[in-house]
Amino acid sequence: MLLRNVWYVAAFSNELKVGEHLGRTYLGEPVALFRTESGQAKAILDRCSHRAMPLSEGHVDGEVLRCPYHGMEFGGDGVCKRIPGQDRISANANIRAFPIEERDNMIWIWMGDPALADPEKIIGNPEHVDPKWTWKNFYFHVEADWQLLVDNILDLTHLPYIHANTIGGNPEQHYNAEMEVIADGERVELLRKLPNSIPPKSYIDAGGFKGRVDRWQEVRFHPEMGMVMRVNAGGCDAGTGAYEGKRDHGFMLANIHCITPETETSVHYIWSIATTASPESGVPEVLFDQFFDTITEDEETIAIQQKNINRFPDKKFMGIANDGAVNQGRRLLSKLYDREQDSLLAAE
Ligand code: FES
Ligand SMILES: [Fe+2]
Repeated sequence: MLLRNVWYVAAFSNELKVGEHLGRTYLGEPVALFRTESGQAKAILDRCSHRAMPLSEGHVDGEVLRCPYHGMEFGGDGVCKRIPGQDRISANANIRAFPIEERDNMIWIWMGDPALADPEKIIGNPEHVDPKWTWKNFYFHVEADWQLLVDNILDLTHLPYIHANTIGGNPEQHYNAEMEVIADGERVELLRKLPNSIPPKSYIDAGGFKGRVDRWQEVRFHPEMGMVMRVNAGGCDAGTGAYEGKRDHGFMLANIHCITPETETSVHYIWSIATTASPESGVPEVLFDQFFDTITEDEETIAIQQKNINRFPDKKFMGIANDGAVNQGRRLLSKLYDREQDSLLAAE
């Protein structure tokens, strides 16, 4: 199941410097991303109209991407600007361009009907532009159905089992967490509180906690505003006001998990981790390393899970009490998919 009329994160801005190009497949379609000399990020089909050479193997020259084979040049709008050795350029030489928006240090792409691409429908990620936060982005390629990655973030009871050495913590405290699931037909939010918890390793290393902490984890998923999941998490010394909104004295994290299907069975898992710890403290680097390990664990887990799903293709999942947010997420995605399929049928 692939949703086309949704904004996806194609790459982080720093993955595409001026004059660079990057070939990535989204929703099964090969795309050549490139950044022109004036700094614009562009996306066109990764196939030269002449003899099918991948343009992502080519060269950026000013505002065009030049095919590496016989030198045809394409603008970011997909229009062929030059064919060496001939003056007349027919419209057949043009290729498809994809709507692109760049904001908050992320490049967003729209793979669906261009007429429906509304830049207003892109969620902000203010931590990437607020100097209070220090952040780093990462890229993972995951061999799995992208929906398993959505499920993974909507069920954080996996933390003490999969991430015991970093952000996990005590299993009992996780499955006894105070949990609220908000689902209004457009978004799913999972709000968890783990009061009076033993701090996990990352929290001790980065937050310097000596005693118990009040932890929070808040997942926000609003796919019609981009296929990303924003997660705020952190902890304060127990009883110091974390649940009354007094968190500045504690340890705060913000993640954005961008889940961009490459194909039905593989995903570009592009994410960042942000912290309010000052760069001079050395804490951000410790956290970045630990989160790299953490997400590596997720990637390995999901790939193994997918392999086993493939070994038992006729078997269904069985629900348990903690699946509330996962079920709401799946329901929302199915609804969006059905709506998209209905509109495609209506247009035929
Ligand atoms: S294949 Fe691109 S110019 Fe010939
Ligand atoms: Fe995880």
